[in-house]
Amino acid sequence: MTAPPPPLGMLAELTHRCPLACPYCSNPVALENRAGELGTGEWRRVFAQAAELGVLQVHLSGGEPLARRDVVEITAAAHQAGLYTNLITSAIGLDPERLAGLRAARLDHVQISIQDTDPGSADRIAGYRGAHERKMAAARAVADAGLALTINAVVHRANIERVEAMVEIAFALGAGRVEIAHAQYYGWALRNRDALMPTRPQVDRALQAVARLRQAYQGRMVIDAVVPDYYARFPKPCMGGWGRRSLNVTPSGRVLPCHAAETIPLEFWSVRNHALEEIWLHSPAFQAFRGEDWMQEPCRSCPRRGIDFGGCRCQAMAILHDPAATDPACSLSPHHAEMLELAELASESGVAEYEYRGRMKAVPRPAPSVVS
Ligand code: SF4
Ligand code: FES
Repeated sequence: MTAPPPPLGMLAELTHRCPLACPYCSNPVALENRAGELGTGEWRRVFAQAAELGVLQVHLSGGEPLARRDVVEITAAAHQAGLYTNLITSAIGLDPERLAGLRAARLDHVQISIQDTDPGSADRIAGYRGAHERKMAAARAVADAGLALTINAVVHRANIERVEAMVEIAFALGAGRVEIAHAQYYGWALRNRDALMPTRPQVDRALQAVARLRQAYQGRMVIDAVVPDYYARFPKPCMGGWGRRSLNVTPSGRVLPCHAAETIPLEFWSVRNHALEEIWLHSPAFQAFRGEDWMQEPCRSCPRRGIDFGGCRCQAMAILHDPAATDPACSLSPHHAEMLELAELASESGVAEYEYRGRMKAVPRPAPSVVS
């Protein structure tokens, strides 16, 4: 196999600690604890190696990256390595002092998640009373500070009817971009699929709303939308293809081709034992689904295989227990009908209670949660 081109982006999961408990969290079901987290110096080394490898952007994420006391130093280290820095945050803990520190560290961009536009619903989804109000205040402060702002909203059955209001809020807050992302069903979201899955008519209405909103906001704000897999005709080109464009570093330093890769039994190497370039080029996990040799039919002979790369390996694992299978989101998969049936059953399940992700103490919690 020829050597892959360098990755463009790196997701740095600084910690799994988070004050929120969203039921669709992209963190693994088994969260890493604080004692195992990479230190400031280790992240500095990783950023230098990433820049040398060709990475252009680093997404400082979590959990909640602000749960790290050294988040300002870490941001400065990424900037000094020459990387474009994006902070992906719930904004809980983004007080004026922190924000000033991050600006001074030359943070380039902030992405703030919102759970809904209705404060009661938003706090219920986040499992944190008062979260919505704090997020709104922090987002305004970010825009006022002159930092580029993206608002991200994960949509599902409880909030999908308010896509329009989400876009309006994002614009009012001063965002240059809003991302409407349907929940992706791995890990926590898979556990909560019955409570999260929207109905087909809800999805259709949301897609129509996005199309209208894109026209209305053309030239003023970018609207990105990720279609829910279960109702799609073709799968998403997950991660731009396995091991092709980006990598994830977990809080303890394991390097993954995507955030859910650990749901697949593979051998993951750590930045504690290997240089990033060595991991990118030679680690078993990155080699596993690179190129096309691993593909089964119908992907193997499909003209779209260079467009979507067979879809998502983690989804094939989650639904079919075979990570090399065609993503069942694809209408050409022999299992697509089963997937649609799963979606319909989940969306009509009537389940409304969430199994919240494990909460790990991160930043002081000023108010008790609205959920137990
Ligand atoms: Fe993509 Fe495979 Fe479906 Fe073809 S068969 S569209 S390559 S997932
Ligand atoms: Fe892992 Fe799609 S989330 S390949």
